[in-house]
Amino acid sequence: MKLIIDTDPGVDDAFAIALAALSDDVDLLGVTTVFGNVPLSATTRNAQRLLALCKRTDVPIAAGAQRPLVHPQPHRARYAHGADGLSGRAGTLPEPARDLEPTGAVGLLATLLAAADEPVTLVPIGPLTNIATLLAAHSELREKIARVVIMGGALAGGNTTAAAEFNIWSDPEAAHRVLAGGEVPCVLVPMDLTYRCAVDEEWLRGLAESGPLGAALHGLTPDYVEYYRHALGWPGLVLHDAVAMAEAVRPGILRTEAYPVEVDCGFGPGRGATLADQRRPELRERVDGERAAVEVEVAVDTDLDELRAFVLD
Ligand code: BDR
Ligand code: CA
Repeated sequence: MKLIIDTDPGVDDAFAIALAALSDDVDLLGVTTVFGNVPLSATTRNAQRLLALCKRTDVPIAAGAQRPLVHPQPHRARYAHGADGLSGRAGTLPEPARDLEPTGAVGLLATLLAAADEPVTLVPIGPLTNIATLLAAHSELREKIARVVIMGGALAGGNTTAAAEFNIWSDPEAAHRVLAGGEVPCVLVPMDLTYRCAVDEEWLRGLAESGPLGAALHGLTPDYVEYYRHALGWPGLVLHDAVAMAEAVRPGILRTEAYPVEVDCGFGPGRGATLADQRRPELRERVDGERAAVEVEVAVDTDLDELRAFVLD
């Protein structure tokens, strides 16, 4: 399958990139970067280093949005990912081996989609700013998009505010555009499921012993694991973005249900919340009495052992 990653690496982004870059089932057309876990300059350099680690210098990379569409948000993810985005260990990876495309992210996305001879899967695993901009600037290309598989959202409480998950909170207006716009089929992989897919120490040992690439990825994890263990009391490594990538690479590995999803773009405590209407379909009226026209496939469950084995493999 043809696939493009839009990313803000990010320790868990690193696993998602490696999963796609090394899969025999994936024709990785390109990688675009976005601000998010750390500023754009760092996420972009990290993406370049990660593709060098995976020996994928054939894959073009372009830098995208430095800030959200409407209202800038402070960076809040350095606690999880470190100041360089890779737990202070970006320097352990190879130096970037390929220059950036001068087109920028939206230009590269448009060029790759226009040239594709079959619909392409987009996998945004950071804020949705580049994807919203692509849809606004190049609506003629939406036919070229098979699915947008998004890591983001929270059905029952967020990780960045009480209501919001980090990727959606970072640019709610962009998320609203992509999820509620109805232009492209979306799969939302929310944190409710990604937390349940956390891997344990035995999995991490298996990764470290799997070879040089596994050892390099394992080397990025200690501070991130520590953050989840001590700050959140969570036992194990939460590979949010790799869970979404697993669904992109192996469609159906996550079980989904179709719900209308609205993003709270207000400035109250709910900003960035993803409101999935899980009532019975006949009861799904909004506050204005209308019914939402657009449904999103929301990932709700998976076979945890199969998922963990697939990502490790
Ligand atoms: C998401 O936020 C980022 O910190 C991770 O890389 C992931 O994409 C999880 O909420
Ligand atoms: Ca990410």
